[in-house]
Amino acid sequence: MSELRYDGKVAIITGAGHGLGRQHALELASRGAKVVVNDLGGDLHGEGASTSPAQEVVAEIVKNGGEAVANGGNVATEEGAASIVQTAIDTFGRIDILINNAGILRDKSFKNIGTAEWDAVIAVHLRGAFLVTKAAWPHLVESAGRVVNTSSPAGLFGNFGQANYSTAKMGLVGFTRTLAAEGKKAGVKVNAIAPVAYTRMTADLFPAEFAEKLGVEQVTPLVVFLAHESVPDSGQVYTVGGGHIAKIFVAEGPGFTKKDGLSVEDIRDNWDQISAQDPFAIYANIGEQTTATFQALA
Ligand code: NAI
Repeated sequence: MSELRYDGKVAIITGAGHGLGRQHALELASRGAKVVVNDLGGDLHGEGASTSPAQEVVAEIVKNGGEAVANGGNVATEEGAASIVQTAIDTFGRIDILINNAGILRDKSFKNIGTAEWDAVIAVHLRGAFLVTKAAWPHLVESAGRVVNTSSPAGLFGNFGQANYSTAKMGLVGFTRTLAAEGKKAGVKVNAIAPVAYTRMTADLFPAEFAEKLGVEQVTPLVVFLAHESVPDSGQVYTVGGGHIAKIFVAEGPGFTKKDGLSVEDIRDNWDQISAQDPFAIYANIGEQTTATFQALA
């Protein structure tokens, strides 16, 4: 079985000082990639900063014979995002892979959530992915690069106490699909993962006996594959964890059509058909969905 290699490739991994990002960095470096290990080094809630976590991961990569450089930039600021990209260009001269992974939590029920908790979480996950990808985009277009965004089952399916986090994580799905469309001509492929892993982020949520089963090394292989030049697809989302991987997709049910106009009562009287989930259609883009609507009306 031939090994997937990344020799000559330059990868940026945000939030790579701990958890999943650290594992992605170690694995990509072990397969020949030159890695920019970004981490702000704050706590789980995004408080504080330290360059040590990124530097420690770089030291580990170098000890293993790999090449890496640390960056302590904050993904949520334009200066931070620019510094991450500049570190890659100054040190390695190109960018082939961007893994948007940095994240924080500020969980609160919607009744209790404040603007500060909303803004902080949206800023790191959603604005951060935007800012770093925007700064890296010209380089990714040049290299026909790969982007992997980190969504979450909490965003795809919803989770009590995470209005901020789930909004950001579902936002990354729309971001992934639109960038896949816009990157297509240049050969840039953009996908997303919805991981499940035992890290400092989930240590309080998952029973301790799952720590080993849900190790970060069960998520990284998918990220590394999605970062490879041979990855077949773009614009897709995969859940991954504990040795299981599956595609997650948005689908549309068969629906109900009334060509001479819908009334409120039509909707009441046809609710079962409107709510039907089978047969469903999966559209590659908005064009396909609009065409299907026009066909139903024709
Ligand atoms: P983690 O807390 O171990 O790692 C997140 C890293 O991001 C930390 O090292 C942190 O310092 C860094 N970071 C935070 N804010 C930053 C900023 N503004 N700029 C640069 N770096 C920053 O957590 P974990 O679990 O490894 O999370 C990685 C990603 O995976 C996150 O986006 C998280 O939301 C996502 N995720 C994790 C799941 C899990 O089961 N562990 C489930 C679903 C999604």
